[in-house]
Amino acid sequence: MSTVKKTKATGKKPVKAPKPRVAAAAKADKATPGGIAAENLDVENEGQAPGVRRRDFIHIATVSFAGVGAAAVAMPLVSQMSASADVLALASIEVDVAAIQPGQSIKTSWRKQPVFIRNLTAAEIEAANKVDVGGLRDPQTLAERTKPGKENWLITLGVCTHLGCVPLGAAAGEVKGEYGGYFCPCHGSHYDTAARIRKGPAPTNLVVPEFAFISDTVVKIG
Ligand code: FES
Repeated sequence: MSTVKKTKATGKKPVKAPKPRVAAAAKADKATPGGIAAENLDVENEGQAPGVRRRDFIHIATVSFAGVGAAAVAMPLVSQMSASADVLALASIEVDVAAIQPGQSIKTSWRKQPVFIRNLTAAEIEAANKVDVGGLRDPQTLAERTKPGKENWLITLGVCTHLGCVPLGAAAGEVKGEYGGYFCPCHGSHYDTAARIRKGPAPTNLVVPEFAFISDTVVKIG
């Protein structure tokens, strides 16, 4: 089961990224009171029945609400500090990615920005590693964008680096673009399976936020 929960503020400097704008073709981002966008959580599940996708969505959304409950308990303290907005901005999240199968992605929210978590298939990893990095607009290897031994876990902000739209490709049935990663329909930016910009006006790759695996299946973002 995939889980998402809020954790305490880290005090670390937030990652700078373009302010997200929702693409016309993307879903609206309705954040819950705790800052987790439950409706922004979705699962890509190629080759499986729609019912499986639905179950995954329910698991993730349910735990997100549990996270909201935890946040509500902490609110009196936060209110006393009169810094709820700052605390929310600095908060980290923990996501249990155990249920995300190869080829699947989820969308979650961190610091009020969409985040894509993708479990790359062997073919997607191979495609990313075959690219001549020297020819890229923003040269980075897949290894530089993932963690050692966890190269299949691609975690990026879901914010196009052109003008901040939310690219397609993380939810079931969405177009992934010419390079099999993500596609921003706003002005036609194509990202590959390492979320590197390959075509279109975006100047840089999708941003990889600060993250670390705190267990074999739980990743802490922020
Ligand atoms: S905002 Fe993505 S291509 Fe323009």
